[in-house]
Amino acid sequence: MANSKYEYVKREFEFHRHLPASNWIVVRIDGCHFHRFSELHAFEKPNDDRALRLMNACATSMLEKFPDIVIAYGVSDEYSFVFREKTEFYKRRESKNISLCVSYFTIVYGMKWKDFFPNNDLKEPPYFDGRVVCYPNINTIRDYLAWRQVDCHINNQYNTCFWALVKSGKTEKEAHQALKGTSSKDKNKLLLQQFQVNYNDEPAMFRKGSTVYRDKVKTDDCGNPIKRTREAITVSNFDLIGPEFWENHQYILGEEKYGYEYVKKFDNIHRLPYSNWTIVRISACQFDQFSLIHSFDKPNDETALRLMNACASLMMEQFPDIIFGYGFDNEYSFVFQEKTELYQRDERLIISSCSSCFTSFYMMKWKEYFPSKELVQPPHFQVEVSCYPEPRIVCDYLSRRQSECHNRNQYTTCFWMLVKSGEGENKAKEILKDTLPKDKNELLFQRFQMNYNNEPAMFRKGSCAYRQKSANGCRWKPVKMSGGM
Ligand code: GTP
Ligand code: MG
Repeated sequence: MANSKYEYVKREFEFHRHLPASNWIVVRIDGCHFHRFSELHAFEKPNDDRALRLMNACATSMLEKFPDIVIAYGVSDEYSFVFREKTEFYKRRESKNISLCVSYFTIVYGMKWKDFFPNNDLKEPPYFDGRVVCYPNINTIRDYLAWRQVDCHINNQYNTCFWALVKSGKTEKEAHQALKGTSSKDKNKLLLQQFQVNYNDEPAMFRKGSTVYRDKVKTDDCGNPIKRTREAITVSNFDLIGPEFWENHQYILGEEKYGYEYVKKFDNIHRLPYSNWTIVRISACQFDQFSLIHSFDKPNDETALRLMNACASLMMEQFPDIIFGYGFDNEYSFVFQEKTELYQRDERLIISSCSSCFTSFYMMKWKEYFPSKELVQPPHFQVEVSCYPEPRIVCDYLSRRQSECHNRNQYTTCFWMLVKSGEGENKAKEILKDTLPKDKNELLFQRFQMNYNNEPAMFRKGSCAYRQKSANGCRWKPVKMSGGM
């Protein structure tokens, strides 16, 4: 079917974040405003057996509905769902994954509500938020589950003490105060001595949370023995922190086999957003050291700046999609035209080729600009990319770079004038601390009879590179220009 002219809005603007391959995907959902929801529906404190069993029933339905969920763990108003390592659930698209889990959990919660709260009507719609986290191996996924279970223990022990104190007549403030700074052992002692409660006798569902998984059983749905093992979705309250559960259920987080083709899934291309102006900013690394070794003039070495401009010019020849360049000091920003298709907008390839080209030009042009200086240390450049949706913002970006040029240059001009006049470097820094641009201009004028505005424009304003129409009017030729924008 022919695409309509509007099809580009999908092709160019819709992006799907795919979760990395060969990772255990965890979707953790959490009740929104359940503090209020639990009050409104008169949940028992600190644990409501019905509410927790309802959560478990929803988790069970999730495992029935989505076979790729291998285990789920829940406590309070939250539940974590672990998808098998190689799941291709909606091609591992993050938004599909989160939204479907949260939506399905919510609908089951609503539909099963009456089974657990037959005498309570739902007074407001329950809803959940969700997040997705990826864990790269079995150890980290086990640690994740252990972390949630430790959290369950800490919160439950605290809440058990807290509500025991409140029910015995303390105000909530007094109860918090009584528990402040207490250790786990202190809390157990408090429960035993003041309320004759042995914390370890509290229901395991409260203390350890609930785990839902497919167990291998040799009974049918009615509990009668059968010959062949079958899988049954089971809710338990085991310890996930120690090794025992995992040793007995090794198949749950079993590693899967990979074919060679699978490695392609790891190539996660990030394309720069369409209909945006891409700016590639190149800046030299460890340039202080580099300029010292090559005895560049301070604060500005005109030849070094001209070398940077020459490289910028070559960049514009190499990449016709660059429409503008702006540079000062040891950096150059290149603006690519809005619709550039350079490397199909693959960010990695744009960054690497720009960085490599610029470095290569710098090295090759070096002798031309510094005929009597050996290149004794390899210059290298880092690159950052940003994208701006409107030309107005591109202009603001360039203005910001130019104002940075002005600030830096005015400061270094003052600093080196002071140092050259005999002040120590620390003293010079001290003198310039907290000075305004106006103060710096005055300092230069009064101490050194220097009018900052008469300094070369290339130092004060940086350099622009852009194309000008050549004499015959049909060819564009890269030129460099110093001055304002
Ligand atoms: P958000 O998740 O940020 O929207 O806030 P929230 O109000 O849901 O709080 P949070 O998720 O941090 O904590 C869950 C809250 O749910 C607890 O603080 C309790 O108030 C409530 N809750 C969960 N389970 C029970 C329960 O079994 N009994 C009672 N009484 N309250 C519960
Ligand atoms: Mg919540």
